[in-house]
Amino acid sequence: MTHPAPSPLTALRSGPLRGVLRVPGDKSISHRALMLGALATGTTRIRGLLESEDVINTARAVTALGAPARKTGETWEVLGRGTGGLSQPEGPIDFGNSGTGTRLMMGVIAPHDVNVTMVGDASLSKRPMARVLSPLKEMGLAVEENRDRLPLTIRGTSQLTPFVYKLPVPSAQVKSAILLAGLGTAGSTTVIEKEATRDHTERMLRHFGAEVTTAIKDGETHITIKGQAELEGREVTVPGDPSSAAFLIAAALLVPGSEITIEGVLVNPTRTGFYTTLQEMGGDVVFLNEREEGGEPVADIRARFSKLSGVTVPAERAPSMIDEYPMLAVVAAFADGVTRMEGLAELKVKESDRLAATADGLIANGIRAEAEGDTLTVYGTDQVLGGGLVATHLDHRMAMSFLVMGLASENSVTVDDVGMIATSFPEFRSLMERIGSNFRA
Ligand code: S3P
Repeated sequence: MTHPAPSPLTALRSGPLRGVLRVPGDKSISHRALMLGALATGTTRIRGLLESEDVINTARAVTALGAPARKTGETWEVLGRGTGGLSQPEGPIDFGNSGTGTRLMMGVIAPHDVNVTMVGDASLSKRPMARVLSPLKEMGLAVEENRDRLPLTIRGTSQLTPFVYKLPVPSAQVKSAILLAGLGTAGSTTVIEKEATRDHTERMLRHFGAEVTTAIKDGETHITIKGQAELEGREVTVPGDPSSAAFLIAAALLVPGSEITIEGVLVNPTRTGFYTTLQEMGGDVVFLNEREEGGEPVADIRARFSKLSGVTVPAERAPSMIDEYPMLAVVAAFADGVTRMEGLAELKVKESDRLAATADGLIANGIRAEAEGDTLTVYGTDQVLGGGLVATHLDHRMAMSFLVMGLASENSVTVDDVGMIATSFPEFRSLMERIGSNFRA
């Protein structure tokens, strides 16, 4: 896949930011709803599906595999084919920028007698796939090329063998791929995780009628799925994405006089480490009206401009805020004192090497920052100069994080390309403008 010409954007000092709003649906849950809808019998109806490039690519992927996903009115419908019921696609499937789409679909495809060529953009084609392919190969998946990067052709089999796998990295994508493969495998498949990662796959599998059990043994969680169960088409309501809300909440904390409320945001504890950290820094961030919707905890999140202090963010918290570190690092630049973020090895294999890219972006804007080993240290200041040009490396979260910086820094901040924001949060600019942010193309 080729990329269009880069489109830069500049964020200018703004504010105060004010408003009550919603953010689009959660990306992780949106991918999973489409996939489980495809593997269920009958029709699945999804409300609030995130209509971003990554998720649309997953909708196209399940359609290409014989389970059409399309929008009717406000609702997405997937016509499921039942467990093991997907069919041979006609051509290669393009996953664009999405690691989640690619890795989870490897698990979905594995228990089917199909040959699938998977391709992606320049960023995705650099990302490691062995973490998912190695365990799937042990279950019986064949991979034509002897490498672990896209483009790849995988050959599934209806004779996959059940498996017990201990995750070597804390990754919900790896966990999910194995559970999804296990769903189509005769017998029980177990994934063992040391650190809790997002559990949307487990929750949604149960919602569709699969038998998924969890047990704690020696401090580790054993998640077991009973294979070849029939899933039934369901109604799914997707809550607001806390990883998208993070940019607006951070902006409200940094821009003087701001107060915003974002309604209906997912607050599953495996996703809220960023908000916990903001509160520890002294941020006035509260969850209001906490409730459960569609098997997931949801709240309205209110944030007000706050004086912040640096903190140490422990490594154990990383899985629950893995996508929010670039944003947190920018927040830390405005805090009083030093912020140390530990245990960030996984940050190096995201849409870009976010550890290095974030440090570079801060330095380009006059902030002292050090990336050493798996730790990022940011030295906060009460005078964030800004004025820098930030390289986003085809990474949506890099672009959005540094645009937020420009709203509160002395001088404007420019990011080199906002094209990739559409992969996760196409409404970013319009929602930010609605609460009072100034941007200049
Ligand atoms: C995701 C898991 C995380 C996260 C990604 C979405 C998911 O990746 O960074 O944006 O939906 O399962 P890892 O599992 O690789 O940490």
